[in-house]
Amino acid sequence: MVQCTLWGRRECRNGRRGACGVSIVVVALHALVGRDAELRNLLTLVDGLKEGGGALVLSGAAGVGKSALLGAATGEAAARGARVLTATGVPAEGQVPYEGLRRLLAGTGLAPGDLDGGPLRGAMSVLHRLSALASDTPVVLAVEDAHWLDEPSWEALAFVGRRLRSDAVVLLATLRDDADSQTRLAASGLPALTVPPLIDQAAAELLARVAPDLGVALRARVLAEAAGNPLALMEFAALASRQDQEMLASSRLPLTERLERAFAQALAVLPAARTLGATLEETACRS
Ligand SMILES: Nc1ncnc2c1ncn2[C@@H]1O[C@H](COP(=O)(O)OP(=O)(O)OP(=O)(O)O)[C@@H](O)[C@H]1O
Ligand SMILES: [Mg+2]
Repeated sequence: MVQCTLWGRRECRNGRRGACGVSIVVVALHALVGRDAELRNLLTLVDGLKEGGGALVLSGAAGVGKSALLGAATGEAAARGARVLTATGVPAEGQVPYEGLRRLLAGTGLAPGDLDGGPLRGAMSVLHRLSALASDTPVVLAVEDAHWLDEPSWEALAFVGRRLRSDAVVLLATLRDDADSQTRLAASGLPALTVPPLIDQAAAELLARVAPDLGVALRARVLAEAAGNPLALMEFAALASRQDQEMLASSRLPLTERLERAFAQALAVLPAARTLGATLEETACRS
């Protein structure tokens, strides 16, 4: 259960009605397992929007659930009346200056020339624009895969994120935990929340949800190989549920296409990757 504050009046997901500023308990707020602490952190920022803003970067391994958390937080923010602006970093556009910021602020009245004239002027323009927007409606900036955002956009957002205390604007971003991304995060000075692998109990709960009929031995094997990574857990569970005898007989579960995509970067830098580490590296080599 997560405590939250509603702005305005709406039907809550548990059927109770909340009035402006009334704290209520939301039951079954989201379909995420084992993330109450992280969600509480995010919702504290969202709840405090009317009083002032802030920033939080969700950092963690591929597939660990950063986007799932961000989605839950922005969903709640939108339901409470905030304006949610989103953009996703894309590797192909990582070298296009301000592309990420342009996409994030499209439709907000930021003029094309506002980002000209140097990084400081660009960042100040963004801050002023957001401040003006937020005087009307609280704003949540949701930046997915910030590790792939072009550098000028990231620097401008970091500048803005460090100065949001008096504006009703929250900057939330997701970022992978590889060395380059962590350097980017450290240089930004933005507060971060590390999203760890799921603890055993939560992983078992998620597995029971996605593959309720899995036998005891397979269940244990999927849990061990996924090492608390929800994406790996769901992909391995789907494989195991297909009861592919050949696959089950092998010593490791093979990587699915989705896992290979998610871990392409991590596999390239293994064994430095921490969470799935050796298990996935070995799995990749044998498949
Ligand atoms: N706590 C959770 N409970 C249930 N499902 C989850 C949880 N965390 C993640 N998932 C699911 O696991 C999958 C991977 O999660 P997600 O996409 O959020 O990972 P990510 O950390 O954003 O990965 P990437 O770095 O590749 O973007 C998604 O299908 C998501 O819905
Ligand atoms: Mg993601």
